Amino acid sequence: MFLSKDEEKLLESGDYTIRKCMEILVAVGKIFDADRLIKIKSAQISGISYDNIGDAGLEWLESLNAKVKVLTLCNPAGMDLIRWKEMGIDKDFYEKQMRVINALKKLGVSLSLTCTPYYLVEINYGDHLAWAESSAIVYANSVIGARTNRESGITALASAIIGKTPNYGLHIKDNRAPHVRVIIDEGMDPAIAGYETGRIVKDRIPFVEFKKKLNNNGLKAFGAALAASGGSPMFHAKEITPEWRDFEIPSEKIVIDGLKQESCEPDLIAIGCPHLSKEELKTVYDLLSKMGKVKKTLWIFTSRKIAWENKKLVEKIENLGAKVFSDTCMVVSPATRRFECVMTNSGKALEYLPKTKNVRAIFGNLRECIEVATK
Ligand code: F3S
Repeated sequence: MFLSKDEEKLLESGDYTIRKCMEILVAVGKIFDADRLIKIKSAQISGISYDNIGDAGLEWLESLNAKVKVLTLCNPAGMDLIRWKEMGIDKDFYEKQMRVINALKKLGVSLSLTCTPYYLVEINYGDHLAWAESSAIVYANSVIGARTNRESGITALASAIIGKTPNYGLHIKDNRAPHVRVIIDEGMDPAIAGYETGRIVKDRIPFVEFKKKLNNNGLKAFGAALAASGGSPMFHAKEITPEWRDFEIPSEKIVIDGLKQESCEPDLIAIGCPHLSKEELKTVYDLLSKMGKVKKTLWIFTSRKIAWENKKLVEKIENLGAKVFSDTCMVVSPATRRFECVMTNSGKALEYLPKTKNVRAIFGNLRECIEVATK
């Protein structure tokens, strides 16, 4: 892999953090046959919930002595930084999570605490990024046409500190070609369509034909579930993805037509995986105001920026009995563990809740979730 003189100097730097970050990027570049490092417009770090990283991750973050070189955002933490008590988070967890937050602050990371960074910062077609949140990666690649590989929390942080990423994978146009054609039936919820597609295509890139065209919120739900149940870093949606015409349509064809699931009686209804947009918050409010007061526990997750910008709407939702939390989500917070059965409209949460929180999870579309919450 070609390194400029300046890059070689970083590799021999007396600064431990810089040297290690360069070593990580060069090692990854060599594994994937990258020809060089390329500049990135922004980085996004995942794995910042203390529930996921524990003391080892916390101490590693605290040991880093550097500043990020590019705009660097971060994923949700394990709690709402302000309303953590209402989530049932204990003081010990709060203190550890705040140490993680302070370590990120010291590195210069912007405390976006969301998996929807594309609502916060402008990214454009062709931008090179080093993002680590799987749902945001799919959205950036597929809906916007930016370019990012599926980074880990560590490689994204190394890229943030160096300001570059190895040039391989989805940074190169030819590697973005679709492998399999997928037809999505008209009546399917996008989250379930993504969930089922991911289970079949695994980490291949699908060329997707939605019989009913999706808006960006639907594409977000589809992509998040696709990346969670499979591992695909992007999809091409016919007539939507900026590059959809640039490649041959694959000959292998799959039709996706439904989900079979077991049932359980939900004691938590959780919405907002990925974090809700303003329009989705509005839809939640419209449904709630039609169906009446919440009678079960209904948690809604969005970024703090969206919540602040829509304070009145959030208040109205909360007046109907739901809780709107920020900075966290049902999957990365330990708070979900005390429930037995979670109903969600997210294909990603459906995949991860049983694995990471040991709770049962069932799917309902947004209307069904609100119906159950108000029954
Ligand atoms: Fe976001 Fe948490 Fe889902 S990080 S995509 S809300 S698992």
